[in-house]
Amino acid sequence: MLYTSSLSKLESGWCSLASSDSKSLIKKYLTKGVFGELKGKKTSFGSTLLDCVQSGFENHDSGVGIYAPDAEAYTVFAPIFDPIIEDYHKGFKPTDKHPAKDWGDVNALGDLDAEKKYVISTRVRCARSLVGYPFNPLLTEAQYKEMEEKVSTTLKGLAGDLQGEFYRLTGMSKTVQQKLIDDHFLFKEGDRFLQAANASRFWPTGRGIFHNRDKTFLVWCNEEDHLRLISMQMGGNLGEVYKRLVTAVNDVEQRLPFAHHDRLGFLTFCPTNLGTTIRASVHIKLPKLAADKAKLEQVAAKYSLQVRGTRGEHTDAEGGVYDISNKRRMGLTEYQAVKEMNDGITELIKIEKQL
Ligand code: ARG
Repeated sequence: MLYTSSLSKLESGWCSLASSDSKSLIKKYLTKGVFGELKGKKTSFGSTLLDCVQSGFENHDSGVGIYAPDAEAYTVFAPIFDPIIEDYHKGFKPTDKHPAKDWGDVNALGDLDAEKKYVISTRVRCARSLVGYPFNPLLTEAQYKEMEEKVSTTLKGLAGDLQGEFYRLTGMSKTVQQKLIDDHFLFKEGDRFLQAANASRFWPTGRGIFHNRDKTFLVWCNEEDHLRLISMQMGGNLGEVYKRLVTAVNDVEQRLPFAHHDRLGFLTFCPTNLGTTIRASVHIKLPKLAADKAKLEQVAAKYSLQVRGTRGEHTDAEGGVYDISNKRRMGLTEYQAVKEMNDGITELIKIEKQL
């Protein structure tokens, strides 16, 4: 039985979203029928539909608006997750199975912008969840601490140019923290989408960042996902960035077991990140193309790319710098996801040159 307060919150949240002009995917797919079917359900962890959609209910400007409080939610609440997954990942159907991990030929990619005129920096990240722990909304304070300990100890084992240090958010000075955020190395604090999803409990406990000496390989601990593994550097050398990420993930994977789902691929808190979990992006200046933001987005979408502001999603472009990446992460391999960004950006640069 659901508590009446949770049910009435669900009812009023649904009504207010339904009558709003929100462009979110939950508004689109949480129809009256689906809502009625799911509003009384619970996972064995006790998660309800409200736990999944409250971020989108509170933030009508969400693009998506749903998170999985626990891995089981993807199954119990499949009638809402499935169509959203299919829409976001461009046709990944409920009957589709995400392909096996395949990094492809790590030497096949090169520099996106040898002339150094457009691409400012390049980044590839993936997300991983640790086996045996739920997602953020269900983690206890003790688990946060335990995970941070595990992660920092594991990362101490990295060798060569991946070698670095783990910095706990707890006790980090505001100046250091802000500098890391401004340089695009660290996640920002107080994301209202995550907060509404109950994903920021006990902050900053258990949250931290690891980086190597050059700040070209980074790991985020317990931000949105248990782990985000990130490779980045200035300029457009995607080949170097990708190779570094693959080396690092292969190494960490041997010492930390990651949660994987037969159909959905690697498990993440947000359905937009399932599958490969790969987001390959550039910071890029395309002044002519971007003179009309709608046009830029339209052209980018044609190549299955997504445009974000300089500081990532839900931000604006600063100084004409956009963050452009592959959009879908499911139903294709790791290599194909990165290649999608590679090919799309190559086309955008070509178009910019012709304007
Ligand atoms: N929930 C937010 C929205 O719907 C973020 C969605 C994708 N981004 C993410 N970091 N998971 O706009």
